[in-house]
Amino acid sequence: MAGKKTTISVIKADVGGYVGHSSMHPDLVTKADDMLEVAAEKGLVADFHVTSCGDDLELIMTHTRGPEAPDIHKLAWDIFLAGTEVAKKLGLYGAGQDILKDAFSGNVKGMGPGVAEMEITERKSEPIIVFMADKTSPGAWNLPLYKMFADPFNTPGLVIDPSMHEGFNFLVLDVIESKEIMLSAPDELYDILALIGSPARYMIKAIYRRTDGEIGASASTQKLSLIAGKYVGKDDPVLIVRSQSGLPAVGEMLEPFAFPHIVEGWMRGSHNGPLMPVSFEDATPTRFDGPPRVIAAGFQVTDSRLIGPVDLFDDPGFDMSRNKANEIADYLRRHGPFEPHRLPADQMEYTTLPSLLAKLKDRFKSAK
Ligand code: F6R
Ligand code: MG
Ligand code: MG
Repeated sequence: MAGKKTTISVIKADVGGYVGHSSMHPDLVTKADDMLEVAAEKGLVADFHVTSCGDDLELIMTHTRGPEAPDIHKLAWDIFLAGTEVAKKLGLYGAGQDILKDAFSGNVKGMGPGVAEMEITERKSEPIIVFMADKTSPGAWNLPLYKMFADPFNTPGLVIDPSMHEGFNFLVLDVIESKEIMLSAPDELYDILALIGSPARYMIKAIYRRTDGEIGASASTQKLSLIAGKYVGKDDPVLIVRSQSGLPAVGEMLEPFAFPHIVEGWMRGSHNGPLMPVSFEDATPTRFDGPPRVIAAGFQVTDSRLIGPVDLFDDPGFDMSRNKANEIADYLRRHGPFEPHRLPADQMEYTTLPSLLAKLKDRFKSAK
C-alpha cells in the first residue's frame, strides 16, 4: 500500500571484534537476528536486516513508531548488551566497546551506539540505500553527500530533473558547540562548503528537498570521543539515503564513492586515509587496520518490508576506485608517523603527546 508511514532505523555498535578490530564473529549476527525475529513476531519491528561492516554490528530495522522511539532504541540496546555477553564468552576483542553507559534512559543517542533514522511516507516505489563505514567518523559523509545533493557534475538530475531543480536544504551540525544550522543549496553553496569542508567539526545531519520538505538523507552524527571524553574507538558512521523520482538516482548516490576521498580514522583512529568502497565480503579492514571501508546496501521499502539487500559496491565499475584507494593508502603509509598521514594532535584519538610534553617540560629552554 503506497502512502503509508514507515520509519527506517539503522542503529549500530562495536560490541566486540574478531580478530582484533577487523571483523565480525557470526555468533553476534545470529544473536541479533534471533532477538529481532522475536521483536518482529511481537510486532515491535515490521522488518529487519542484520549485517556488519568491519567490527561493527549493524541493525537495519523498519517500524511505524517514528524516529527516536524508546521501544526501538531499547531493543537495539538490549541486542548490543546480549551481543557483548556473546563477545565476552568468545573472548572477542574489545567486548562491549561502544557500551558507554550502564543504564538505558529512553534513547541510545549519547550512550555509544551510532544512529541514523528517517520517517517517510512510502512512495509508489521506495528505493533506499544504507551506507555503512568502518574505521572512520561521521564527517566522512560530508563530501559524498555534497556531491549527491548539490553538485551537478555528479548529479545531472539537479540540472535536468524539474523536481530537483530547486535544490536541497542541508542540516549541518557543529559537534563542538552542539548547535545546528539549516542552509540551502544552491543559493548558499559557498557557506555550506565553508563549514562542511571541516568534517571533524561540521557534519551533515540530514538533507531535505526544498520544494516539499521531503527527506533525502539522514546520517549518524555521534562522536564517541566527545561523548566519552576519551578515546573509545572511532564512531564508524551510517547513512540512509532515499533515491529516484525527484531525488538523486541510485547511480548518482553511488558515484561520489568512485573518488576515494581522504577521511580521518584508520589505524588507532589517528590517521588520514582513503575511503574504499567495497562489497559486503570485502568489508574486513586488515591493512594497517584499514584502509577505511564503506559498503552500500540497497533495499526497496515496500509496506514497511525491506526487500533486499543488493550489495551495491559489488560492481567492477568500482575496481578502479579500489585500486586508486590502495595506491593512496600506500603513498600515505610511507609518511609513517608524520602528518598529514598522522592526524593533527587535537584530532588524534590516541596520543601520548600531553604526557610526553609534561615529561620534557623542564628540558625545553628558551630559544635563542
Ligand atoms: C581504529 C581501531 C583500531 C585500533 C587499534 C589499536 O578505529 O579500532 O585501529 O585503534 O587496533 O587497538 P587497541 O588500542 O585496542 O589495541
Ligand atoms: Mg573495535
Ligand atoms: Mg569499527
